[in-house]
Amino acid sequence: MLKLAIHDDLLVILSDSVATPGADTTYLATYSDRIACRDALVVGCGAGLLALRLARRGVRVRALDVNPEAVRLCQRNAVVNDVSDGVVATATDATTATNLGTFDLVISNPPQLPAAYPASGASWVQLANDGGAGGKDFIGWLCENAARLLRPAGVLLFTHFGFLEPEATAELLRRDGFEVRVEYALTKSAGILSGERLARLGTPITEYGVYIVEARRPALPQETKEWTTTGASTK
Ligand SMILES: C[S@@+](CC[C@H](N)C(=O)[O-])C[C@H]1O[C@@H](n2cnc3c(N)ncnc32)[C@H](O)[C@@H]1O
Repeated sequence: MLKLAIHDDLLVILSDSVATPGADTTYLATYSDRIACRDALVVGCGAGLLALRLARRGVRVRALDVNPEAVRLCQRNAVVNDVSDGVVATATDATTATNLGTFDLVISNPPQLPAAYPASGASWVQLANDGGAGGKDFIGWLCENAARLLRPAGVLLFTHFGFLEPEATAELLRRDGFEVRVEYALTKSAGILSGERLARLGTPITEYGVYIVEARRPALPQETKEWTTTGASTK
């Protein structure tokens, strides 16, 4: 059966083999309008909503997902929404990919629940939210690699579940020189499946806040030039 979602005039075809965009995805997509950028890397693109929203306003998008079905769906959704010229989607594990390039924006609704399935034998959808034993591995990777993937003054933008302490993540990014803001987005109900995973963190969690972390890489320091009276630089 064909399943569809409509987000602000974007039509998103869904699939049982690909993570379904949730309220956090739509919040992040809308938030991304605030970031001026010419190109963007979408890490873990899923069905492609973030990529579509960016491409619709003329941003050149590189989209990645470890799930090949997600990549096919993202590309198909780009065609359906007439933005395929602006979206290049690739099936790859972002954490091992090399030569991804540098971007004005790196955006992700990352996997961030405590892992629940063995890596082999589970479906892509079962693995879509696995953020390692404690849930924070993928967010850690994003933060550690942000400076490599962003141009100076570029922005890392991602959702961050409240129980994983977004302020602690923000502090680590600030220590690396990023200018960071954390904004509350919405509250999600844990549901049965997520609730079982969250119970592994030690405290029963029935609902949790979702936050947006926006971290801007510092711009390069202005080049200082000392000019002689003839106009030639002394440096
Ligand atoms: C929480 S889902 C979000 C999907 C989509 N961005 C959305 O919001 O609807 C996380 C996505 O990241 C992908 N993913 C997980 N680990 C990945 C990795 N190492 N490299 C690339 N993509 C990954 C999953 O397959 C999944 O599509």
